Amino acid sequence: MPKTIIVSNRLPVKITQADGEYQLSPSEGGLATGLGSIYKQHNNVWIGWPGIEVNSDEDKSAITEKLKEISLMPVFLSQQEISEYYEGFSNEVLWPVFHYYASTYASYKQSNWDHYREVNQKFCDEILKVAKAGDTIWIHDYQLLLLPALVREVMPDVSIGFFLHIPFPSNEMFRLIPWRSELLEGMLGADLLGFHTFDDVRHFLSTVTRILPVTSSSNIITANDRSIVVESFPMGIDDKKYGSLPLTQEVIEQVNQIKEAFKDTKLILSIDRLDYSKGILQRLEAFELLLKLHPEYIGKINLYMIVVPSRENVPQYVHLHDQIDKKAGSINALYRTMDWSPVHYYYRSFPIEMLSALYYSADVCLVTPMRDGMNLVSKEYVASRVNNDGVLILSEMAGASKKLIDAIIVNPNNIGEICRSIIQAIKMPLAEQRERMTQMRQNVSKFNIAHWVKIFMERLKEVKQLQRSMQTRHVSGTTGQSIINRYAKTKNRIIFLDYDGTLVDFKPNIAQAEPDKQLYELLSLLTEDPANHVVLISGRKHENLSEWFGNKNIYLIAEHGAWFRQQNTSWHKISGLSDAWKQDIYPLLETYVDRTPGSFIEEKTYSLVWHYRKAQKGLGELRANELANNLKYLASDKGLQLLPGDKVLEIKNMEVNKGKAAALLVDKNDYDFIIAFGDDYTDEDIFKALPDSAITIKVGSNISAAKFYLRNPGEVRRFLLDLTESTVVQDK
Ligand code: UDP
Ligand code: G6P
Repeated sequence: MPKTIIVSNRLPVKITQADGEYQLSPSEGGLATGLGSIYKQHNNVWIGWPGIEVNSDEDKSAITEKLKEISLMPVFLSQQEISEYYEGFSNEVLWPVFHYYASTYASYKQSNWDHYREVNQKFCDEILKVAKAGDTIWIHDYQLLLLPALVREVMPDVSIGFFLHIPFPSNEMFRLIPWRSELLEGMLGADLLGFHTFDDVRHFLSTVTRILPVTSSSNIITANDRSIVVESFPMGIDDKKYGSLPLTQEVIEQVNQIKEAFKDTKLILSIDRLDYSKGILQRLEAFELLLKLHPEYIGKINLYMIVVPSRENVPQYVHLHDQIDKKAGSINALYRTMDWSPVHYYYRSFPIEMLSALYYSADVCLVTPMRDGMNLVSKEYVASRVNNDGVLILSEMAGASKKLIDAIIVNPNNIGEICRSIIQAIKMPLAEQRERMTQMRQNVSKFNIAHWVKIFMERLKEVKQLQRSMQTRHVSGTTGQSIINRYAKTKNRIIFLDYDGTLVDFKPNIAQAEPDKQLYELLSLLTEDPANHVVLISGRKHENLSEWFGNKNIYLIAEHGAWFRQQNTSWHKISGLSDAWKQDIYPLLETYVDRTPGSFIEEKTYSLVWHYRKAQKGLGELRANELANNLKYLASDKGLQLLPGDKVLEIKNMEVNKGKAAALLVDKNDYDFIIAFGDDYTDEDIFKALPDSAITIKVGSNISAAKFYLRNPGEVRRFLLDLTESTVVQDK
């Protein structure tokens, strides 16, 4: 039976050594706690590092056996790998850059990168030991960005999902990394890339299309001819577990102790791994400010602060630990009374029962990270509030804030705002608490961890289906052969060929895309066959087509159908067309040329085209949208149509349409073979206008009304050559 192989740097349990014995305990961190509660379904396995350096082979096999019982497979890391791959690259390059701390904390060392690559390969080798065709491989987080492509190389058809548990930064941050292309190429080995929020998706799409030569159409990237889907899946928690823990005897006892210890005061809870991204110092500052500005709260509120040790060998974490110790100590020293301490600070981790008792007891949960992919602590607090009371204060920089909109949302840099929010929370009437908490609980319950896994896995299956259907639509193998067979058997064919992007690649300058010798030879082969009627149907100016193809045995259609010319005759144009509108639109386009360096206007008889191929990436698209919006009403008033194309926006008379032009020709004769090739928006009109029996071929793998596709002009030319050769063979 096919299985799911989960892969992450850290396993959901860690091994520690005490009294010469290896012991298992749950790992901290959202990835491990979230997925750890549900991975043991079917015959799934989870591959990852057990969190400890193990040297002897004997110990390694003892640990491997122990972990096998709970479906875990260890990847052992040497001390050097821990220090260079895990601490050096993952946590001193990727973590700070992805959390927008590049300038403060990131350090780029070649040897760290070398080890990052090697360890990713090591994980790949472990996967390959157990992966079988039909399995699904689900890779997690920033420590393993290269892994999807490494696995893909060996298992080209396997299903690979990837999920990033931390934010994906803006391109301005990401592009600082010296190995940015390799990292992105690694990620693109997956079929489905999941992120917590839509912002992460946006950042990823804009980064990948800027840095790598890939195309994207909405959230689908095409790379090496594979469609890769990018989507947001906000991670949830095991809400039922957190909802039922407060009913257990162990938790009830701890709750009673907490209530006794903090009676008559308001309990404010703060739980994080020690990390500069969590805003722990700023939170302490806000709490201190509150005591300073509002002495009436002295003796009335308590901050219960759990800081879980994390990455203790990374210098920034050591430094932060020191600062937090000092800050918590100084607040206590300043405000403590005989029977009251403001901050109850613990630098260690706690079992889930104690966490549950604290979530259940705390009047307020204060979660104010500077950046956080999701933040599960906030959701665990909500799920634990079985009486629908309590107040969550949540940073707008946490992914969770996108869904928990009924929290008090704060900017974590605004110490004054956090301070005011704490007061608002303490004073919040029970009815309002209930109203907000009920909404948040519904959300946490609906989008729980099981839902997250389910929709991710369903989407991964859909992506695989999409890829398969793309494969059958690709004109190759049996699909290509059956078209060739039909061609060879027929005697009266019409062949529609678009020019730019179909027969030749796009060039930065439109004049550079002139036909080459090979293309002329190919067209001669096609036109030599008396059974063929070749039609070149282009948006180009008629003068341009005359210059290039005027002496060929080709029917020419220019300017999307405004002009047409039968072989060896003169040009005709559609009657009744007016170009008077150009004098109003031209000056408007000029303002866009003035504002967008690299763009220019092309004037045709019945259309105007604004080209932005050479404009700054992103700016061109932005202006094109703006221009289209600007022209929307004017265009419909004047009977014009706006045609967004490949790095162009064309404005033309509504009556002119490649589809109409093609249909007119098809109606004139009883063709037994109709085929059309085109790459652009305007060619979609041809695909739609032709009869059902026609073979329509899109160039490029974007969504299209065409039945089949070819990847690029090179493939189009090869296929046209195959068509001509099929009849040569027959004739012999
Ligand atoms: N956690 C834990 N032991 C503790 C304190 C916290 O296991 O003593 C867990 C907490 O319950 C939560 C996770 O650590 O599930 C932290 O996840 P979060 O998404 O909030 O932050 P991350 O650590 O992943 O950045
Ligand atoms: C975050 C990351 C996880 C990581 C966890 C704990 O949640 O997204 O990948 O496991 O922090 O960090 P650690 O370095 O201890 O694994």
